[in-house]
Amino acid sequence: MDQFIAKLPKAELHLHLEGSFEPELMFAIARRNKVEIPYRSAEEVRAAYRFANLQDFLDIYYAGASVLLAEEDFFDLTRAYLKRAAADNVRHVEVFFDPQTHTDRGVPFKTVADGIWRALCEGEKEFGITAKLILSFLRHLPEESAFATLKQAEPYLDRFAAVGLDSSEVGHPPAKFARVFAAAREAGLKLVAHAGEEGPPEYVWEALDVLKIDRIDHGNRSLEDPRLVERIVKDGLTLTVCPLSNLKLCVVKDLKQHPIKRMLDLGLRATVNSDDPAFFGGYVGANFEAIAAALPLTREDLRTLAANSFAGSFLSDAEKSAHI
Ligand code: ADE
Ligand code: ZN
Repeated sequence: MDQFIAKLPKAELHLHLEGSFEPELMFAIARRNKVEIPYRSAEEVRAAYRFANLQDFLDIYYAGASVLLAEEDFFDLTRAYLKRAAADNVRHVEVFFDPQTHTDRGVPFKTVADGIWRALCEGEKEFGITAKLILSFLRHLPEESAFATLKQAEPYLDRFAAVGLDSSEVGHPPAKFARVFAAAREAGLKLVAHAGEEGPPEYVWEALDVLKIDRIDHGNRSLEDPRLVERIVKDGLTLTVCPLSNLKLCVVKDLKQHPIKRMLDLGLRATVNSDDPAFFGGYVGANFEAIAAALPLTREDLRTLAANSFAGSFLSDAEKSAHI
């Protein structure tokens, strides 16, 4: 089965570049930038990656990202991810970055955007991976901060396919960002949002009805509401599901209870993604392998999951058919 999975052409639609920051690269960049990190080795860092919930993880994730300072750092981070994704036969990626994580520390928006963009352009030539970039707002910060970020992004809008919404979900419902999402739509961007990862089905309804998103990140808790499932199926929206993330953040107790097979059976367009692979123990190939081992998925199901990732991407129809 693993051979079959390895050969499937894949797109990855839910990946935080800051979440692909492997401890070895973190140490190398910290040394280059003369920044102290409170660990002695990559093994010690990995040993600290035990999370009871999303917030536990986010605290460590933001601390790790704080060593990123120069354009070259963002370039190296992005290039390392693309190289690793290519090894899993990933042909197209739509990746998130969190500008506020960096600009709030005094790193200029341009430094972040230029480093990532250069790596994506070079990566297309070197690894044959096409890429789209999603600017993600941090939902624990006020909407004004998201507006300021959108303003900073204005000179670079042609580099961004979409805006997203991530970070601490519970207590920060989608409607908090209604106006900035409307402005992003006006600016010609697609809209995605994390919803129903830890938050209730009502947050998914809000993301659909208030934000008017084009794709749902996670969406697991949608299954608690049959009317919501019906709506998502009717609208043909894609869910970017992240099995190992769900396991490590205790969204599911055991992968045997993971809902991805049920999602397919309900007619939902589910996809397999790695979210923050450096923290959750596996890239997209490992996520496929883990669900194939834990659930009664057929080869046809796995083929459907991989095909869904291209169908649910923001590629044009012509680009999609070139990939499938
Ligand atoms: N930021 C990075 N990974 C995230 C996740 N799984 N949920 C919310 N915010 C995130
Ligand atoms: Zn995520």
